Amino acid sequence: MPHIKVTPISKQELANRAEKHSELIEFIARSENYPETLIGINYQNEKFLLVYKYTNDEAMLKYEKITRPLKLTLLKEAIGLVANILELNILSSNIVDIRHKQPLFASKYFKRIEDFIDIKFEHKSIAIEVGFGSGRHILYQAKQNPQTLFIGIEIHTPSAGQLLKQIEIQGLSNIWVVNYDARLFLEMLPSNICKQIFVHFPVPWDKKPSRRVIGDEFTSEAMRVLDIDGTFELRTDSDLYYEYALHTFSKLPKLKMEIKKNYALPIISKYEARWQRQSKDIYDVTLLCDEKSNKKQEKYDFNCSDLRYNIDIDKQLPRTSQVHDDYFIHFERLYKMNMDTLLIKCAFGSFARPEHKYIIVNKNSCEYYPSLPIPSHANYKAHLAIKEFLNG
Ligand SMILES: C[S@@+](CC[C@H](N)C(=O)[O-])C[C@H]1O[C@@H](n2cnc3c(N)ncnc32)[C@H](O)[C@@H]1O
Repeated sequence: MPHIKVTPISKQELANRAEKHSELIEFIARSENYPETLIGINYQNEKFLLVYKYTNDEAMLKYEKITRPLKLTLLKEAIGLVANILELNILSSNIVDIRHKQPLFASKYFKRIEDFIDIKFEHKSIAIEVGFGSGRHILYQAKQNPQTLFIGIEIHTPSAGQLLKQIEIQGLSNIWVVNYDARLFLEMLPSNICKQIFVHFPVPWDKKPSRRVIGDEFTSEAMRVLDIDGTFELRTDSDLYYEYALHTFSKLPKLKMEIKKNYALPIISKYEARWQRQSKDIYDVTLLCDEKSNKKQEKYDFNCSDLRYNIDIDKQLPRTSQVHDDYFIHFERLYKMNMDTLLIKCAFGSFARPEHKYIIVNKNSCEYYPSLPIPSHANYKAHLAIKEFLNG
């Protein structure tokens, strides 16, 4: 990941130099407990943080994980620019050739999870593939069904990048790529919009079942999102996962299901080819949706602008994880932006898919940084509890 090593300067000197460049650097936030300072960047309409970490001999300017923009080029440019305008003495850098890298995540077919908040689809027909891996199946489906929009959701960033490259090479215009956890993604979608949801060869996670994509919530969200006659199609080579899925599906209040064994599909993924060579059994479990679901009701309000900084906030916030039945909150680190402005790093929401955000609280207001949490039920419960802690 891009970083630059520099000769260290003091926290105060860094803040003084940054003050003169408010067009790029929005704020500096210093930690009192860790040898690091956060730098709030506003570059090409993206807000994110850089971290300045230091020891006595060496300092490093690098990206910050939570707010990291997906466009690597943007990140590299920003690190280079900041080192330059702060007149840092560069000792070494791994930022090279920024212009030769393809800005894949700038593609119009790449969508952020936030793009789906209150989305209204204009497409007549929508299908989703969860965990598309190398993308063979979604590419095949998109070519066969040019009138359908295929949304591919994949947690592994290089695979998402690979599919974006293939979309470009093959000149397709009916695939969107989302680089996120599929378990949260479905919760964002309106009801009754989808004709197919494919989950092909999900990671079995035999030793950590809580990480499996298919679970109670995911299954009921999938059925809500499917339109009448829509299908949820699981394909797996794992006997254990097959049994687990049947058990999970059987908890649905009403179930219409079809099971096939060793049924050939017109397209074989690299992953499946490996199992076929080993003559493993492959199971298809298809759930059929035969009734309309209710409209998605919830509108979550994450506004917290009524909260204010007070001098005791430091003492008010618990330092250990606050764990409840279906959500948690962890105030991880505090940074001071000035005498009466704090930047709070926190993790919260559901255990399977925690949200990570910063909160800026000052004399006049309070807000999430760099963007609001994803509107999920667990995040909203955590948000209400966060407000109580900040309020004292
Ligand atoms: C075993 S591979 C199968 C890939 C592809 N479907 C195939 O048939 O070759 C499972 C894929 O699911 C992705 N994945 C795992 N958990 C996920 C999650 N929670 N959300 C989205 N993708 C996930 C992995 O990154 C991986 O690419």
